[in-house]
Amino acid sequence: MAEAMKGLKRTHRCTEVTVGDVGSTVTVMGWVQKQRNKGGIIFVDLRDRSGILQIIFEESDCGAENFAKAETLRSEFVIAVVGKVEKRAGAVNENLATGEIEIRAEQVRILSEALTPPFPIEANSKTKEELRLKYRYLDLRRPDIQRNIMLRSKIVANIRKFMTEEGFLEIETPILGKSTPEGARDYLVPSRVHPGTFYGLPQSPQLFKQLLMCSGYDRYFQIAKCFRDEDLRADRQPEFTQVDMELSFVDVDDVIEVNERLLQYVCKEAIGLDVPLPIPRMTWKEAMERFGSDKPDTRFGMELVNVSDVVKGCGFGVFTSALEAGGSVRGINAKGQAEMPRKKIDALVDFAKGYGAKGLAYLSVLPDGTYKSSFAKFMTEEELKALVAAMDGEPGDLLLFAADKDTIVFSVLGALRLEVGEQMGLIDHDKFNFLWVTEFPLLEWSEEENRFVAVHHPFTMPMDEDLQYIDTDPGRVRAKAYDIVLNGTELGGGSVRIYQSDVQEKMFEVLGFTKEDAHNRFGFLLDAFKYGVPPHAGLAYGLDRMVMLLVKADSIREVMAFPKVKDASCLMTNAPDVVDEVQLKELHLELAPESDKAEDSE
Ligand code: AMO
Ligand code: AMP
Repeated sequence: MAEAMKGLKRTHRCTEVTVGDVGSTVTVMGWVQKQRNKGGIIFVDLRDRSGILQIIFEESDCGAENFAKAETLRSEFVIAVVGKVEKRAGAVNENLATGEIEIRAEQVRILSEALTPPFPIEANSKTKEELRLKYRYLDLRRPDIQRNIMLRSKIVANIRKFMTEEGFLEIETPILGKSTPEGARDYLVPSRVHPGTFYGLPQSPQLFKQLLMCSGYDRYFQIAKCFRDEDLRADRQPEFTQVDMELSFVDVDDVIEVNERLLQYVCKEAIGLDVPLPIPRMTWKEAMERFGSDKPDTRFGMELVNVSDVVKGCGFGVFTSALEAGGSVRGINAKGQAEMPRKKIDALVDFAKGYGAKGLAYLSVLPDGTYKSSFAKFMTEEELKALVAAMDGEPGDLLLFAADKDTIVFSVLGALRLEVGEQMGLIDHDKFNFLWVTEFPLLEWSEEENRFVAVHHPFTMPMDEDLQYIDTDPGRVRAKAYDIVLNGTELGGGSVRIYQSDVQEKMFEVLGFTKEDAHNRFGFLLDAFKYGVPPHAGLAYGLDRMVMLLVKADSIREVMAFPKVKDASCLMTNAPDVVDEVQLKELHLELAPESDKAEDSE
């Protein structure tokens, strides 16, 4: 039986003991990282969330009984040690924060024993992620994950401090809400009390924060749990956290200004990073034209070049037919890659096809001035020269072209630029490039739904000068919407909101909602707007993404304590799981005959 804490009080975390404590007696507690028995002397590396401290046991200091206990210690036992701080007798360990000192144990108490863990508790684990997530409580003991989780806590604390000092009120909004799907699918919770009805879990606190503005709380923020039933990726989880805010009596620049200072403050406090202000801004249109992306990674160049005018009327049908169909021909220049082996080029062609390209045309400008190309034979020497010049091509360069409608050309070249940039080692992973992307389109046509859908959400204000096109040419209307991008990842986004009920009703109309539909879903917001509403705007960050980027993790799973896997399940608790008949009955639910635990993901 493990002994209790009686008579013991922790005085320090492991790495809080310093050279300044030499000579004093301390009590430390934690997990045994390693025990080495060298005969008359036993070394124990003790670990807690602060790091590792070396303990030395010799019978002459701690007595026979304690020494015997030290002999039984194995990895992951939880122990308490009382001992004297000493300067290290042996070599100083540069790898440890406490490398200059050690504790000479006088007393040890085993607080609990431990089974051998299924994988080693150490940084840079090679363990498969499935196993790590099944035993997440052990995985969370590893120092690199602990560093992420602790930094996350620090970031949240800094955000709270900054926001509070800037006069934002932290207000919680409901998790059990009304289902208003727009964008991702909602998670639903059946009601016991009202048969046949469901709560929807919030995809964001959007409507509530706008109502709070109507209620006069002029600056709101929340560290808010959000739920979206969408396909998962490295930077997407079904439940995630937003740093959500809303401000009254403001326009775009006011939101940007306070958020730039927030980012600057948090980056400095959390990782000592200086973010020069103002953060650069780029319109959506410019971002697409130059980088093929609405979240450009500006850490390197290789920008897209529009060569439509240059190849107009050339002999290569792929190019000219794309232009005739109203599309464009654009390219990127992979400098110095002319000798790229055919196999690698073919892989890039396949990569491009993965993004919807019908093909990828390439032209290597060889050192002797000749070309190796998939299309040179269709063009005159003159035409080729003009094309190479337009691309800033020099001997040694590999030029890659996509010809299609703009949306495809951008998505193909945007992705290809990142892929080739990474392959060529052009991306400086020590850089933190923030960028505002502004003037997003208000609406985009959805082939799937055969209607316009909101690019951001239906409450986003059109730009004043574009409002006139909302009926005649909705696709042309730009929005007062902005995203903050860091190193090619969308960190957050927001907008100025519609606050006039007539504009809001017009927006619903353009989105194809009937009046009745709009009222059923959002009536409370439209009603609220009739009782005096301030102009307002806001923004939300993905907190998980923010932490992921600041700690340079590859996935948001590395910065969330208990993440889910790709199919939205939790490998540790086995959620989602079946429930018993009684629960279903109480909720007035009956399962369709074909539902079966294994195939609920669709
Ligand atoms: P948006 O939908 O752009 O805006 O979301 C804001 C930010 O939340 C993060 N995010 C996610 N993070 C992890 N997993 C997900 N599944 C996920 N989905 C989104 C992103 C994103 O930039 N209400 C608006 C904000 C506003 O207008 O004020 C909103 O939710 O980093
Ligand atoms: P094809 O005439 O289809 O054999 O194509 C000739 C070359 O053009 C090949 O290298 C194709 O990969 C490339 N290609 C085909 N379609 C496109 C396109 N839409 N954009 C760019 N290149 C293309």
